[in-house]
Amino acid sequence: MDSGRDTNFWRRLEPPVFTLAPMEDVTDTVFRYFVLRWASPKYLKVVMSEFLSVDGFLHPEGREKVHHRLYIHPLERKLLRQKGIKIIAQIWGTDPRKFEQAARIISQEYEFDGIDINMGCPMKKIIKNGACSALILNPELARDIIQATQSGTHLPVSVKTRLGMKQFVTQEWITALLAAKPASIGIHGRIQKQLYSGKAHWDEIRKAVQIRNHSDKTIAIQGNGDVFDIPTGLRRIQESGVDGIMIGRGILKNPWFFNDAGFEITSQQKIRLLLEHTKLYEDTWQGIKSFAIMKRFFKMYISDFKGAVELRGQIMPLNSYDEIRNVLEPLLTDQKTSDIL
Ligand SMILES: Cc1cc2nc3c(=O)[nH]c(=O)nc-3n(C[C@H](O)[C@H](O)[C@H](O)COP(=O)(O)O)c2cc1C
Repeated sequence: MDSGRDTNFWRRLEPPVFTLAPMEDVTDTVFRYFVLRWASPKYLKVVMSEFLSVDGFLHPEGREKVHHRLYIHPLERKLLRQKGIKIIAQIWGTDPRKFEQAARIISQEYEFDGIDINMGCPMKKIIKNGACSALILNPELARDIIQATQSGTHLPVSVKTRLGMKQFVTQEWITALLAAKPASIGIHGRIQKQLYSGKAHWDEIRKAVQIRNHSDKTIAIQGNGDVFDIPTGLRRIQESGVDGIMIGRGILKNPWFFNDAGFEITSQQKIRLLLEHTKLYEDTWQGIKSFAIMKRFFKMYISDFKGAVELRGQIMPLNSYDEIRNVLEPLLTDQKTSDIL
């Protein structure tokens, strides 16, 4: 679909480019809002949704169950606008026609800046029907899916992938992807078999960049894997030649990842932030998402201060904002979190 406008923002991003990687049960709109609050737009240029099944999305009853994955809270929307950060919806499946339809609906009924296709998820239950990383062994179908998605939308279509299933097939796979002309390719430098073990192979990502350089330099490459701070990301850009870096687990270790102001956060501030996050999570998702998912973030805030482990042990069994507030509020004696938070 061609709207006549050049919507491919990937070509216009000011370096250095950092992207918040899509993460199931992590990068929902509430979490993204907090990440955006602390992020410097000097680094963070793009955020991505959790992945959405095109089968579920197009099913008359299934859509009800999955479309929350595309929800953008007004607080998040405001910060995206203020900071000029792009937001991308990630989709997965196997049927090119469904990708085309899903892409059309997402572009017409939602406000995203791009659509990303998941060709990297390594989980057995997902890949057994040929979706996600299984597409690495089916480059013709991968091409059809990319082209079908492109024909359903005027937005830039990107791909996020790994570099093999049982072994690295960087040359064949990247060559096949480049032929379908996605706007950007996000490369996690592992193969499916590794899941999240071992290390990300940045030498293979570098090889992918060289293949791209000999083919079509207008297609961006985002390198991904084991980057846990900004200086390492900047070094990876230098060494491998990627156009940008995607950050996954690093954000859970350090929610202030995209800000290098070097500010220290006190235990009181962390507790206040956890309360605020829990409240917004509950207000947004009650009856839609389980409270257990929120617990994933407890460690992110309640750590690296005296008594943190014990405090986490106390709140972990609790299942609502009110219960957590009863434990945490009495611990607060300071005035207010600083403006930057
Ligand atoms: C909890 C979790 C959920 C993830 N969900 C997705 C997903 O929905 N889509 C996707 O493309 N990748 C997903 N990933 C992979 C990450 O986007 C990223 O590629 C991977 O974590 C490697 O980057 P890192 O070393 O910076 O974490 C997920 C990873 C984790 C840890």
